[in-house]
Amino acid sequence: MKKSLQEDWNQKYASSLQTKLGWYEEDPAPSLAYIERCGLPKDAPILDVGSGMTTLISKLIDGGYQNIFAADISNIALEKARSLLSEEQQPHVRWIVDDIAHSTEIQNLEGIALWHDRAVFHFLTKDENRQAYLSLLQKVVKHGGHVIMATFALTGATHCSGFPVQGYSVDTLTKFMGEGFKLIEAMDYIYQMPSGDSRPYIYTHFERV
Ligand SMILES: C[S@@+](CC[C@H](N)C(=O)[O-])C[C@H]1O[C@@H](n2cnc3c(N)ncnc32)[C@H](O)[C@@H]1O
Repeated sequence: MKKSLQEDWNQKYASSLQTKLGWYEEDPAPSLAYIERCGLPKDAPILDVGSGMTTLISKLIDGGYQNIFAADISNIALEKARSLLSEEQQPHVRWIVDDIAHSTEIQNLEGIALWHDRAVFHFLTKDENRQAYLSLLQKVVKHGGHVIMATFALTGATHCSGFPVQGYSVDTLTKFMGEGFKLIEAMDYIYQMPSGDSRPYIYTHFERV
């Protein structure tokens, strides 16, 4: 794990309230809609990479999902996210501190039915890190499993939180995923930041074939 990257993200989470984070969603409706359409059994293993302090985890548990992994490079984000869950919610989540581009922990998972990534993959601006991400995904997601990725659009910001980002179109992301993944659906989406600014995203749903 890149300690400096972890420290940078830890600093952001240590110094901000959940609702003030530049990527906060009170209602992660686009992700929830995509996840519901996967038609998964409620005990299917779901992995949210770069989970941070997302409200998605709590909403998934409230929706009946019981087998959730939340992974992030920031241990502080995950500690704070955990503290926001009720005692009844907590047993349904396992927390994994790991770097998706240099994994030592996520790589031990197998049979993941759904990989969800909102606003994480676009931070991988080096080809070697993107390839490591794809290899990890292929290792842990089962055949017939689902991959939902929401990234900045090509027309989006070039930086986020001080980090450079790589935007995507549905075509460029589908090309990157390669022949092992079938595009099921995709959409453009405009995210409104807490500051009021807009960020154009693409949402994609692939199936591992
Ligand atoms: C913009 S935030 C999105 C958080 C969450 N997915 C959401 O929608 O609220 C990006 C997240 O990716 C995490 N992250 C960045 N680089 C990472 C890496 N290499 N490995 C794992 N997590 C990473 C950060 O700590 C942060 O929580």
